[in-house]
Amino acid sequence: MTTTNSVSALIQALGEIPPEAVIFGHSEGMQALRERLDKVAGANVPVLIQGESGTGKDIIARMIHTLSPWKSGPFVKVNCPAIPGTLLESELFGYEKGAFTGAFGMKPGRVEMAHRGTLFLDEISELDLGLQSKLLQLLQDGQFCRIGAQEDKKVEVRVVCATNRHLEHEIESGTFRQDLFYRINVVNLYLPPLRERRGDIEDLVHYFLEYYNRKYNCRARALSGEVMGLLQKYHWPGNIRELENLVKRYVILGNEEAISSDLVTREQEMFNPDINLDGPISLKKLTRQAVRELERKVILKVLQANHWNRKQSARALSISYRALLYKIRDAGLPSNRTRRRQAELANSTVAAD
Ligand SMILES: Nc1ncnc2c1ncn2[C@@H]1O[C@H](COP(=O)(O)OP(=O)(O)OP(=O)(O)O)[C@@H](O)[C@H]1O
Ligand SMILES: [Mg+2]
Repeated sequence: MTTTNSVSALIQALGEIPPEAVIFGHSEGMQALRERLDKVAGANVPVLIQGESGTGKDIIARMIHTLSPWKSGPFVKVNCPAIPGTLLESELFGYEKGAFTGAFGMKPGRVEMAHRGTLFLDEISELDLGLQSKLLQLLQDGQFCRIGAQEDKKVEVRVVCATNRHLEHEIESGTFRQDLFYRINVVNLYLPPLRERRGDIEDLVHYFLEYYNRKYNCRARALSGEVMGLLQKYHWPGNIRELENLVKRYVILGNEEAISSDLVTREQEMFNPDINLDGPISLKKLTRQAVRELERKVILKVLQANHWNRKQSARALSISYRALLYKIRDAGLPSNRTRRRQAELANSTVAAD
């Protein structure tokens, strides 16, 4: 069994990945994840990592390997959607000479390459039903068969799977085997989306800012409180990857206005209520959220149409000037400093309309 200290040591050993305090932050969800990770990494059981895209599933899979007793063995990643269905079987299980046209020699698959190490199957829901049953066999008794081989082979591998889908839904629709789900899901690690750990946004921003300033030899300054406020309110559909890319762009462009106007545009394009179908749904809360979002969009559109003249906008909206100022602040919309950039953006939006 590993300790918290070993997690720190590991993160240092991994080098490029962010420090422990940044990865786990302060939210309850991430602290629970960290405790689980400590407990399971040392035990050779399959792990299923679930979470939206960009929440850090790759990082966690690598940590599991580096904390495991087979850390000096191979870490073999298979990005299932990246390999066409017909090739995936030979990529995973290998083939014998002459197994099919073009099989001029024997080739071991990635399962074999991962012997005494970790096999990381990324986006596992992409495996077709035939491959799912072969994987099931591997998980049951460590056996598999190269294409065209007469006999099964045996390997010792720790299987870690990741997905950003609800596998339970895939089971219902008949595209994922339930028995395989139970096999890969011996331990489940859930990575919360960034919008559920907003308290960590500031630390992540500081980390990425420092990291990319160093990497690109730039000297971008800390973000203003105003932009930080926008980052706090944004819903982050692309999670930490989206935040990282945004900070990277800021470091390279050195222009705060470019990222704040970009965030506002992204918000406009999508209202994506956080509906968690696995738990109770509060219709009241969702409706309130939707009304606020609609109000925000209307105000933004009117401000843009009035070239950010707030007096004119208040008249157009039939509300008082003071009420508009309050709503602008409350909705996290940019005020004076970014107005010019917004006006330019508004011009192009209006023209496009
Ligand atoms: N907890 C974290 N702390 C700091 N950076 C993180 C964290 N999680 C992810 N990142 C960064 O965000 C980016 C995306 O992470 P990662 O590739 O692990 O996500 P993912 O969940 O595997 O996404 P996908 O489902 O699209 O494969 C990476 O550049 C990674 O360094
Ligand atoms: Mg990934």
